[in-house]
Amino acid sequence: MRVFVTRPIPEPGLAKLREAGHDVRVAPQDRKLDRAALLEGLAGAEAAITMLDDRIDAEAFDAGRGLRVVTNFAVGYNNIDVAAATARRIAVGNTPGVLTDATADLAWALLLAAARRLGEGEALVRAGQWEGWGPLQLLGWQVAGKTLGIVGAGRIGRAVARRGKGFDMRVLYYGRRDCPEIERETGARRVTLDELLAETDFLSLNCPLTPETHHLIGAPQLAAMKPTAILVNTARGPVVDEEALVEALKTGRIAAAGLDVYEKEPVVHPGLMDLKNVVLLPHVGSGTTETRAVMSVMCADNILAVFEKRQPPSVLNPEVL
Ligand code: DGY
Repeated sequence: MRVFVTRPIPEPGLAKLREAGHDVRVAPQDRKLDRAALLEGLAGAEAAITMLDDRIDAEAFDAGRGLRVVTNFAVGYNNIDVAAATARRIAVGNTPGVLTDATADLAWALLLAAARRLGEGEALVRAGQWEGWGPLQLLGWQVAGKTLGIVGAGRIGRAVARRGKGFDMRVLYYGRRDCPEIERETGARRVTLDELLAETDFLSLNCPLTPETHHLIGAPQLAAMKPTAILVNTARGPVVDEEALVEALKTGRIAAAGLDVYEKEPVVHPGLMDLKNVVLLPHVGSGTTETRAVMSVMCADNILAVFEKRQPPSVLNPEVL
């Protein structure tokens, strides 16, 4: 079978597909594939491994008439029209579980970097402008003992919360339903979004992007947060109204933010670029060598299972199998 991969990914999954006798065709350029090349690559393929910034919609599925399975090299799948896939009896897979720790670690890296002003400190030292220790220099915010607010108590939200226990934090969460695991693991309490915003010192966004979570955090929500609060987003950019966030950071409505994701990636709002109280990373939540290798294998396993009529490790529309 032909498997089209829209961008180079770590070798282990590709090797597994080749060893199983499949014809693996990887787009050669390490950048987002343009639309025409994407549609051309999908044509003639029985399976595809797609990236989170490839728009896989009805047009894409129609271009790939022979597709049996598409698996995203990501846990998030807001770039894929799963209903359009289901209508064409194409299975859609993703990579949950294997990137939980990497992404939770990165959320914490952002949280600590924003709280302790790591970017500003590093820039000062690198610029050769540091004149020595100062009692008022680059004062940040204490993390230990504060309140950690989690939006979305899925795997990653829970892992972020568990790390908070190591910092003696009180954990609150907001989600669509009760999550007994996060409550058991961290003593977290489920609250309304209003309560979460009012009580949280560090707000970590860990929900998927859906029509319900689009701009979940906008001007009214930012206004409801503490002026000392810090926002961390490792989920998807459009969960936050970036325009409103720029205003809140500029006017001191909230203290700081740590962002790994943006509304219009790879474009970053120019207002964010100008601010010192925001840490900006280039969507590297799952970006460890180990995790990306395992994601590659999970994509391969999703595809092999569909080809071999077995249950894939992660399929979003099992009804087509
Ligand atoms: C995902 O897998 O959805 C993450 O955003 C990758 O970093």
